Amino acid sequence: MTSDTPAALVAEAGALTAEAVATLEAAGSVAEVAAARPELLGKGSPLAGLRRRLGALAPKDRPAAGRALSEALSEVEKRYETRLDELRSAERRLQLEAERLDLTELHEPPQVGRLHVITQTQRRLEDVFCAMGYTVAEGPEIETEWHNFGALNFPPGHPARDMYDTLYVDHGPPGSTLLRTHTSPVQVRVMQNQSPPLYVVAPGRCYRQDTADATHMPVFHQIEGLVIDEDITLGDLAGAIETFTTAYFGPGFTSRLRPSYFPFTEPSAEFDVQRPDGTWLELGGSGMVHPSVLEVCGVDPERWSGFAFGFGIDRLAMLRYGVDDLRDLWTNDVRFLEQF
Ligand code: PHE
Repeated sequence: MTSDTPAALVAEAGALTAEAVATLEAAGSVAEVAAARPELLGKGSPLAGLRRRLGALAPKDRPAAGRALSEALSEVEKRYETRLDELRSAERRLQLEAERLDLTELHEPPQVGRLHVITQTQRRLEDVFCAMGYTVAEGPEIETEWHNFGALNFPPGHPARDMYDTLYVDHGPPGSTLLRTHTSPVQVRVMQNQSPPLYVVAPGRCYRQDTADATHMPVFHQIEGLVIDEDITLGDLAGAIETFTTAYFGPGFTSRLRPSYFPFTEPSAEFDVQRPDGTWLELGGSGMVHPSVLEVCGVDPERWSGFAFGFGIDRLAMLRYGVDDLRDLWTNDVRFLEQF
């Protein structure tokens, strides 16, 4: 038996408590506090060890000393929990701070692209014609001389070919391959590949050996229209042009046909659009599809007739958007392009 006294035990418990509290205060993280628990409050901890010495006390002294030990342990337990809470909320605060979003922060808005003004115009035209019951067809930009001229009734050496300053491609026999000078070869391809009735528009790029200036570009866009059905007349052509004119330009616009010449239409007509202020805008060419074109493309001219028209998309966009130099459309200056 040791000569333990309750006073010594209580004093030691007080010292161990103070030591434990100091350890808890010194701990800098939840993990550190949790790791200290066995050493401070576990069965093997010094404070728990004091319990074993109670037996050495005089029985009358045991209850008071036991209570003191229990109080010491619950004091440490309480400090343990408080410290844990403190550190938990401190860590939470730090985490929130780190993850905080500054909603007042200014960011450059992402640069959103857009369709080129010509593409927009082409799509609007397609929409208008689709609403009129036409479908959209496409053909190659590199064409055979036959599709671009031959099948369209331009005999070799015919002066009408001079209307088109053709760019030839170095492929096959000289003069056999070219960059299409208009979208009319798509008429040929559609008639060869589909059977009437046909209601088709064909927008696309065309090429002519032009020097670039405010109103001409060697690369430009056209949209071709082709209708083949039974009993189609010049009146249907005029009606289609007029329907298109009001649908695209709006009420107050009207159209007219003027006699003209194209080898692949007979009769042929230029068509103009009249603005509400009375001024006229020359839009394109048109006419009844020539019977020999129908025949060459495998369409029976005894049964079917039709009309065709074609006009420039770039000039239309220029007028619609008030562009005064065609070249601006192709220099890719974002400040210009983002206006549309
Ligand atoms: N292809 C002709 C041109 O570019 C226009 C046109 C199309 C004329 C259809 C008549 C019929 O000049």
